[in-house]
Amino acid sequence: MKPTVLLLLALFLTPLHATDHPPAAAIASAHPLATEAGFEVLNAGGNAFDAAVAVSATLAVVEPYSSGIGGGGFWLLHIAEQDRQVMIDGRERAPLAAHRDLYLDAQGEVIPKASMDGALAAAIPGVPAALDHLTQHYGRMPLSVALAPAIRLARDGFPVTEHYRRMASFRLAALNKDKEAARLFLRQGQAPALGELIRQPELADVLKRMANDGADGFYHGEVAARLVAGVRKAGGIWTAKDLADYRVVERAPIRGRYRGFEIISAAPPSSGGIALVTMLNILSGFDFKALDESTRLHLIVEAMRRAYRDRAEFLGDPDSVAIPSEHLLHPYYADGLRASMRKDKATPSASLPGAVRTDGGNDTTHFSILDQDGNAVSATLSINYPFGAAFVPPGTGVLLNDEMDDFSLKPGVPNAYGLVGAEANAIAPGKRMLSSMTPTFVRSDERLAILGSPGGSRIITMVLLGTLEAVDGKPPLAWVSRPRIHHQYLPDVIQHEPNALDNTTRQALQARGHTLNEQQPWGNMQAVVWDKATDRVEAASDPRVEGMARVDSTR
Ligand code: GLY
Repeated sequence: MKPTVLLLLALFLTPLHATDHPPAAAIASAHPLATEAGFEVLNAGGNAFDAAVAVSATLAVVEPYSSGIGGGGFWLLHIAEQDRQVMIDGRERAPLAAHRDLYLDAQGEVIPKASMDGALAAAIPGVPAALDHLTQHYGRMPLSVALAPAIRLARDGFPVTEHYRRMASFRLAALNKDKEAARLFLRQGQAPALGELIRQPELADVLKRMANDGADGFYHGEVAARLVAGVRKAGGIWTAKDLADYRVVERAPIRGRYRGFEIISAAPPSSGGIALVTMLNILSGFDFKALDESTRLHLIVEAMRRAYRDRAEFLGDPDSVAIPSEHLLHPYYADGLRASMRKDKATPSASLPGAVRTDGGNDTTHFSILDQDGNAVSATLSINYPFGAAFVPPGTGVLLNDEMDDFSLKPGVPNAYGLVGAEANAIAPGKRMLSSMTPTFVRSDERLAILGSPGGSRIITMVLLGTLEAVDGKPPLAWVSRPRIHHQYLPDVIQHEPNALDNTTRQALQARGHTLNEQQPWGNMQAVVWDKATDRVEAASDPRVEGMARVDSTR
């Protein structure tokens, strides 16, 4: 946990009336250098979308454990001039040679770590195509300007932080298995010392090629040839066609309503938006103000339990499976789920129709941006597990993801709980794997809130808790620092942070039949709000890690 809360908050007050233009721009990201890179581009005349390219590329350099150009993500955009929202789906795709049983041995058992460490774990990256798309269709600046801070940091190096050391120590064994990864990210096989510079010259060269040639600089030519050769030599299955065929998809976001606010969030292949709106639909039937804390938390947990059951059962790549979105998002459906809940008693997950466990990588990154034209970006990007597959194809400097692990590796087979499901998320050639990433806007005529977080399967419940704070009118610092609880259907426990429940609440939850499971603090939420009524912009970065939120005028 970082010693000080890195929160920079500025209030710019216009005394007479609210306008269509925020009085300041704001960026909250998981790394101070990424927030600064975004402001560098805004100050050079770029808009929120150019800044999103700069922040994404810089995070790819300075947070190699969280995201990267070897990974994927979702960029939720609010285009102010058109009052339009769209989601750029830059999620990774399974290689065309992938198949349903890719990670099973001859006995049909999952091969340990095969979908997590090394070349076979890597799906086809989406970030380079998404950055090009953002620039071409929404930005004002050439890619060379937006990528400049990332190129500089890759070439000159960035200093190792406490968080870097923690992540590198956590993935030491995997990083040491690959010569390139160990050379770039470790020192003598150990986590580098605090302040040591991490230089990535080959990555700087790839970013420069992208600056000149756009996405082609990554998916075609010399870089693509090196990526494919490196992956195949190390036992992976990529082909040149996999890279040449990669395309981002523009998707209509998931929408819902909650207590006068419009919720705009990630569409499939993320499960985030549907699960978030399902939970809010359920909770909208309760008068929270009239309830005590333990009843409120109990009901929130019961909503989480039901939404996560559906997540595992129904959701997957919308281009490959039919998703009953309309049904799941309908208020009548939530009415039915609510009717199955009791205020005085937990519903055992085993008594709900079966699905499967929900996991998902626990490292990822999020940033939120607002520019002074009112454009906004909420983006969550991932390389999946810390340092992804811990594999770098020689001569590229590109650390590859292990997002293949987000597929169900063994669908249709009863799991340890005797439950069957997750056919919708089975591996297939070219398919996108289900995600929990939940970049979100919460807005009314008077407020635009931009939020999201990393955290694997706990992302969606963090965004739910943040949304409840935002709707209550609390400031972003309250959303990002709120003590967290989580329930994901299976295992049937309430996970909670050490300071999340006082004794009375613990006892009241246990009396209802809940099992409590204390965990280390989690999440790294980055949030921005523009309060139009007071013409005020605020931003906050999760105090649990080392991000930075900044609010400043760029005019
Ligand atoms: N890899 C984390 C997620 O997509 O949910």
